[in-house]
Amino acid sequence: MPLEGVLNSGARAPEGTVDESQGGGGPRLSGTLLAGRDLHLSVERMTSWTTIWRRKADAARARHRDDRLGALMEAGGHTSALGGVCPDELRAAARRFGEILRVPPDGALLDIGCGAGAVLYTLDPRPQVVVGVDPSDASVALAAEAMPDGHFQTAEADQLPVPDGRFDGALSCGVVIYFPDLAYVERALAEMVRALRPAGRGLLVDLMDVAHRDRREARRRDAYPPGEHDRLFADLPHLYLDPAWVHATLASLGCRSWEVDAFGPDYSYATEAFHVAFETGA
Ligand SMILES: C[S@@+](CC[C@H](N)C(=O)[O-])C[C@H]1O[C@@H](n2cnc3c(N)ncnc32)[C@H](O)[C@@H]1O
Repeated sequence: MPLEGVLNSGARAPEGTVDESQGGGGPRLSGTLLAGRDLHLSVERMTSWTTIWRRKADAARARHRDDRLGALMEAGGHTSALGGVCPDELRAAARRFGEILRVPPDGALLDIGCGAGAVLYTLDPRPQVVVGVDPSDASVALAAEAMPDGHFQTAEADQLPVPDGRFDGALSCGVVIYFPDLAYVERALAEMVRALRPAGRGLLVDLMDVAHRDRREARRRDAYPPGEHDRLFADLPHLYLDPAWVHATLASLGCRSWEVDAFGPDYSYATEAFHVAFETGA
């Protein structure tokens, strides 16, 4: 496995570094609240998305000791009541992602905001070189354990620790919604394009359409007891995007882009989400 030059610095997250003491007691978030409405009343206000994803990873690890895919999916938010999919739906989506990205078997794929690696794990076949970055160390540790041949590192999307033009494909699934603002999205897209080779392909899954912001926010709020959602997530807004802005930004980076189907018509965010594939200039 040619590790040299795949990541600029740092090493794969060390195994066994996750503090499981946080795990079972961590807050239940998002749609999982539907199954345990009483559990979150004592949960403290959330202060950062990275804290949330770290805790979700720890909780998933503790809950799914004998179910690897279950742990990765839960850690990545794929099992929540809103926006969740079942394993077969995730596998079908991963197949579609693979067809869009067209990374050759001996090629290199970068997953930005890889979480615990649920998408990479369900990709079949997986390209020879798989790299995932995510700010949540607990998620990255799960991904590294699930895919010992992959390279995983904690990093932010706007500062990718990878060399220029190293990747045939780059993917980001369910991540952009957590970016702080449009300037960050611009930097992250520029980084994604920088990491890709000429005529490499990128895929942005689960961008949330600003035209459907109210509908999506109302659905989220309804999953919590009155007032609770706003109390918990007061400082953590989601980022909604105008599809035309995304295409224009990618065009300014020399890419052609188009919208693709990701999770099929039964996906609970089928109305609110859009998914964009792009190809870098030759
Ligand atoms: C819904 S999860 C999806 C994880 C994974 N992509 C998957 O599909 O299983 C969102 C992920 O985005 C990551 N994330 C949030 N902000 C990020 C940022 N600024 N840069 C990179 N990743 C980020 C979170 O840590 C979390 O792991």
